[in-house]
Parts: sequence; C-alpha cells; structure tokens
Amino acid sequence: MSYDFKIAAADTATMYRDLASALEALIAGEQDPIANMANASALIFETLPDVNWVGFYRNVNEELVLGPFQGRPACIRMTFDQGVCGAAAKTREVQRVQDVNAFPGHIACDSASRSEIVVPLIRDGKLLGVLDIDSPKTARFTEEDEAGVVKLGEILSRVL
Ligand code: SME
Repeated sequence: MSYDFKIAAADTATMYRDLASALEALIAGEQDPIANMANASALIFETLPDVNWVGFYRNVNEELVLGPFQGRPACIRMTFDQGVCGAAAKTREVQRVQDVNAFPGHIACDSASRSEIVVPLIRDGKLLGVLDIDSPKTARFTEEDEAGVVKLGEILSRVL
C-alpha cells in the first residue's frame, strides 16, 4: 500500500472526508493502539493547515498521559481538572476554544498556541483518551472543523 496521503481539497468538508478515508485506510487491519495513534497524528498534522500540535493523551487510571503526537515536546501528565484536555475528559464533551489565553486553567505547552480543539475518545462507555489539536491562529477551529474532527475521533475510538 502507498503511504502517500497528500490531501489537497477545495473545501473543508471535502478535506475532512478525504482525511477520514485516508485514516480508515491507514489503520485498516491494525489493532496496535500506539501504531494507530502515531500514524493518525502524523496524517492529521500533515493535512490540516495552521496547526502546530496534534496528538493524544491517554486515560491511564483516570489521569491523562501523553501519547503519540506531532509538534513540540508537551506536558506529560494532566488530571481531569487540568487544561482543555482535562475538561474534555471530565465532561466527555468536545472543547473548542477560540482563545486559549481566555480559558481558565489552559496549559500552554507551546506558547505559540492560540486556539485548540479537544475531542474525547470513547468506546463502549469507556473514556480511552482525548485527541488534541492546537493552532497558532486564534479561532482556527470552526463548527465544520469540529464535525470533521469528531468523525476522526469516532474512527480512532474503534482501534485504540
Ligand atoms: N493545551 C493543552 C495541553 C496540551 S498541549 O497544548 C499539547 C490543555 O490545556 O489541555
């Protein structure tokens, strides 16, 4: 199989559709969670414009522990009471933050980050972890991005 997934779509909806297809192809038949998170973070980082960090925090005994990612080295552990990731884990709801500096408790791993989206990854009622995407642009993530990233999270939750 080819691992060249250069996605150049005319509009956001098409881009996320192509990204979801590429992700499905990339993880097809592979059950190893680290391999799947590693490739997923690389694919998303390469495809989405204006992002500076894409990666996973895993739920390890109700603590968020850093998983595979692309971007600058990041904070290793967070409780469910810390950061945007903690809020996503605690509420099990997507956190789409337009201005991270205005989010109480935001953890700045990369001072360049201005906005962020975090999607909880849930399978059979169990929180597996979260997918975190950061951008150096304020208000980078729209409702359309949220729908697209949620779909990616659904695909990933099956194989983590
Ligand atoms: N900003 C995140 C922490 C993780 S890093 O940005 C990669 C948060 O507040 O949860």
